[in-house]
Amino acid sequence: MGWNPWNAYKCNISEEIVVAAAENFIALGLKDAGYEYVNIDDCWSVKSGRDNVTSELIPDPVNFPRGIKGVADDVHALGLKLGIYSSAGTETCAEYPASLGFEEIDAASFAAWGVDYLKYDNCGVPRNWSDPYSACTDRWTNTVNGTCIGLSNPAPDGYDWGTSLTAVRYRQMAGALAKQDRPIQFALCPWGYAEVETWAKGVGSSFRMSKDIRADWGRVLEILNRNSFLMNYVEFGSRPDADMLEVGNNGLTFAQERTHFALWALMKSPLMIGASLTALTDDQLSLLKNPRLIAFNQDRVYGKPAAPYKWGTNPDWTFNSSYPAEYWSGQSRAGTFIALLNTGSAAVNKTALFSEVPELRQRRYRIADAWTGEHLGCHTDKFTTLVEKHDTAVLIAKPC
Ligand code: GAL
Repeated sequence: MGWNPWNAYKCNISEEIVVAAAENFIALGLKDAGYEYVNIDDCWSVKSGRDNVTSELIPDPVNFPRGIKGVADDVHALGLKLGIYSSAGTETCAEYPASLGFEEIDAASFAAWGVDYLKYDNCGVPRNWSDPYSACTDRWTNTVNGTCIGLSNPAPDGYDWGTSLTAVRYRQMAGALAKQDRPIQFALCPWGYAEVETWAKGVGSSFRMSKDIRADWGRVLEILNRNSFLMNYVEFGSRPDADMLEVGNNGLTFAQERTHFALWALMKSPLMIGASLTALTDDQLSLLKNPRLIAFNQDRVYGKPAAPYKWGTNPDWTFNSSYPAEYWSGQSRAGTFIALLNTGSAAVNKTALFSEVPELRQRRYRIADAWTGEHLGCHTDKFTTLVEKHDTAVLIAKPC
């Protein structure tokens, strides 16, 4: 859980912005809610190149006058952790120097500066490091009878993407980080390429599974739709990164923001706030601090995420970016979570039929509202509630 400036600031980042975010974690109660990593994204270094003598990356002297170490010291003094960004290529997506071929040097710099987390992008990959085979990144839309269609150079049957050059590029940095004298969380950001979900576990703690998010309902649904097919790959130490949160970035209604946050939490995506913290309304802050959804996301006993148990608008297992799965369930220490998403364009009654929810085994359950914590009584066989357009009801069921 943390914050990342990319969605709100793009390349306009500085020490002031990052340290202010850390201070706001305290002032706004976000640290108390569990948010811990204050991250730096692209554009933090000198763009023209590395240090001539040491080959190290150089923090931009104007925007980061005290270096990354100065920022890390401030962030650590607040009891928080600092994240940084690079790419498994020769350039980042914004064309700053990146780490391919410099993994050991950069990992050592990050460790020396006190960095706790590295987001590792997939831009600037030279031709000789590109995978010879095209992966079926759109395998749910492009697959006919189990075969991916329309690929220029498909991998042979049974090909292990864990041996691909993409996997090797990521493992090189994982190895370099492991040699450092401090733990550095490794967040893979290969946008779902090279079937990353099949080999990410053991390489990094999370894997980006899609292209970039935007504060746009269609994009939120599309990412949700894709991720819904990856839930079997998720467990402790292997989170599907559905990308940073857009709550507070003007583009979603509050109902859409609730759905976005709830489903990201339930899928066990990293929860990275992507807005300017001082621009958040009280409602948005309470949403981001929802203790019940955060507890589900961070559960120490249950590593499995929630998963769809029924699609709703479409037949089960249908890929449809506008109408993804609407009925989700997952187990947690607090009980069984059930999410009822309304992808339609009007408020509608939605029913959780207990016999359809895989985690539920009996007929009577006490239902609580995960948004408010309010207890809604004991119910037999089912629970029905009104769900506003694009909103999600999140219920917690425990035996009566
Ligand atoms: C993209 C990445 C974004 C952001 C951006 C920076 O590839 O998905 O999250 O990091 O690069 O240029």
